[in-house]
Amino acid sequence: MNDLLLATLRTVLDRHHHDGTRLVQILRETQEAFGWLPPEAISGIARAIGWPRVKVESTAGFYSFFHTRPLGRYRVLWSDNITDRMLGGAELMQAMCEQLWLEPGRVSEDGLVSVATTSCTGLCDHGPALLVNYRAVTRMTPERVAEMSALIRKEVPLTEWPIAWFAIENNVRKKGLLLGHDLAPGEALAAALARGPENMLAEVKAAGLRGRGGAGFNTGLKWAACRNAAGDAHYVVCNADEGEPGTFKDRVLLTSYADLVFEGMAIAGLVTGAKTGLLYVRGEYRYLLDPLKSALAARRKAGLLGENILGTPFAFDIEIHLGAGAYICGEESALIESLEGKPGKPRIRPPFPVTHGYLDQPTTVNNVETLAAACLIAKHGGAWYAGHGTAKSTGSKILSVSGDCARPGIYEYDFGVSVAQVLAECGADKTQAVQVSGPSGVCVAADEFQRKIGFEDLATAGAFMVFDTTRDMFEVARNFAHFFAHESCGFCTPCRVGTAVVARLMDKLAGNHCSPYDIDEMFKMHRLMQETSHCGLGHTACNPLFDTLKKFRPAYERRLQSLDYAPAFDLDAALSQARQMTGRDDAGAHLLSGETT
Ligand SMILES: Cc1cc2nc3c(=O)[nH]c(=O)nc-3n(C[C@H](O)[C@H](O)[C@H](O)COP(=O)(O)O)c2cc1C
Ligand code: SF4
Repeated sequence: MNDLLLATLRTVLDRHHHDGTRLVQILRETQEAFGWLPPEAISGIARAIGWPRVKVESTAGFYSFFHTRPLGRYRVLWSDNITDRMLGGAELMQAMCEQLWLEPGRVSEDGLVSVATTSCTGLCDHGPALLVNYRAVTRMTPERVAEMSALIRKEVPLTEWPIAWFAIENNVRKKGLLLGHDLAPGEALAAALARGPENMLAEVKAAGLRGRGGAGFNTGLKWAACRNAAGDAHYVVCNADEGEPGTFKDRVLLTSYADLVFEGMAIAGLVTGAKTGLLYVRGEYRYLLDPLKSALAARRKAGLLGENILGTPFAFDIEIHLGAGAYICGEESALIESLEGKPGKPRIRPPFPVTHGYLDQPTTVNNVETLAAACLIAKHGGAWYAGHGTAKSTGSKILSVSGDCARPGIYEYDFGVSVAQVLAECGADKTQAVQVSGPSGVCVAADEFQRKIGFEDLATAGAFMVFDTTRDMFEVARNFAHFFAHESCGFCTPCRVGTAVVARLMDKLAGNHCSPYDIDEMFKMHRLMQETSHCGLGHTACNPLFDTLKKFRPAYERRLQSLDYAPAFDLDAALSQARQMTGRDDAGAHLLSGETT
């Protein structure tokens, strides 16, 4: 091991107290120093934390942002989300490859640069976006591609690149309850401390607050279960993994409302009895790490974190962990595995995190927005909060609006707002569909635009992707199929194989090579994945395919019609043929009757 590597490892490991549960952070910081993870580094880390080398390798191999072989001194990753593609991302990436004489996914022969794609970078409101050495660059244009390629060829360090390229905007277009708050730092926490843990919990229950991470679980019940669980220590985890394509509201909350989020974590700590909070931020938001650390330092200085908060016996502090490019780490038990230094594979549940979470201790995992909303409840009370929104969806929801509209960005509404109203306000024209809550959510067609955002109707973690009539909804679904195939963690066979097969079949259909048999195979995969997958990723992976097939059939039929042997093909005939071929009367019936299971 050379001296530089040794010295770097010593610094990184000391910073993390040679603690294996910090492995993801140790690997990230080591890679930041060398651009990749050399074998000697893996061995050195394994020895230092006392883990078998194979365990360290398995973590390093799991995350797409870790590299156990060199991938170029400049590593460019273009966001492959559908909205970036709609803004020309794929063509710009191709142009960059041509200018750098590169094939996508390959490292240049001189080891200078590699160019590839990555899943959504959470910058859909100002794409096309990319990451260069994991720093985000937005609004790529042909001119910017040419300039960037020249800088890379000349090996100009990133610190000397135009600063404007790295500017990330908030694009807050509409403020509501949360984004329009007037709370000073410490105000909500002081109100919570004055109420005391039991009363604060009662207010959260009275508010009817439900999780904003997608599932909509009742926050008061979750906090009560965690509070009542026996353990040596309790933990609060803030889930800022935000990997669902089309979602970027947590990015904005962490950028400009970090105090509110940290304060929400402290309130959760007060209620559940936790003294430690862990903020898990997706690796794509690496640029937020230093500002967030500064915000934490300022809060400690102001007596809002640490011992004797605001002069009371209450003690609570927060540490930040960065992810490393794995969508599945948004799933709460996978996130906890990642926090413990392991590959982010969802745990078998029960037991649930509220009783056996981080380090097997009672843990509440909450979305960024949920925790921020708790501050409003601390200040104004549960009844006030429950007075906004609808009966089953109290309060407000922040939407991340992107795609075909004049004003992409962040919009906050009380629950119950219609899709049509959001479309009108974001300047959408000739809209044919909205993908609500990302690929794992629901595709809403024009005749459904009066449907409402809320747990009673359209539940959402926040993504609101707009597609106008020029878009091919089959290609949208194909992009999502590839997303799921890429992000499946591989733990269970139905999802690992099923997502790959579905992506391949969608490619086959795109090339007009599909037969009725293939459509039936997709139905089978969907059922199999829904019934037998281990976690929500596998359960929802076929949602976009079936929504678009149901609502935009011509986009699929066009491709089937061009089959040489069936020039006048229609989907109904294909399905009945599939039934004959499989000998099953129900082949495809669930689709045609409008069900997706
Ligand atoms: C594949 C998958 C990805 C998820 N990604 C996120 C995420 O990025 N952020 C999030 O808050 N919840 C995500 N969730 C939901 C979490 O598992 C969990 O329900 C949530 O963090 C709980 O917080 P809440 O009660 O405040 O909503 C995901 C779930 C699945 C199955
Ligand atoms: S369903 Fe997919 S993502 Fe979930 S555990 Fe199985 S393989 Fe992993």
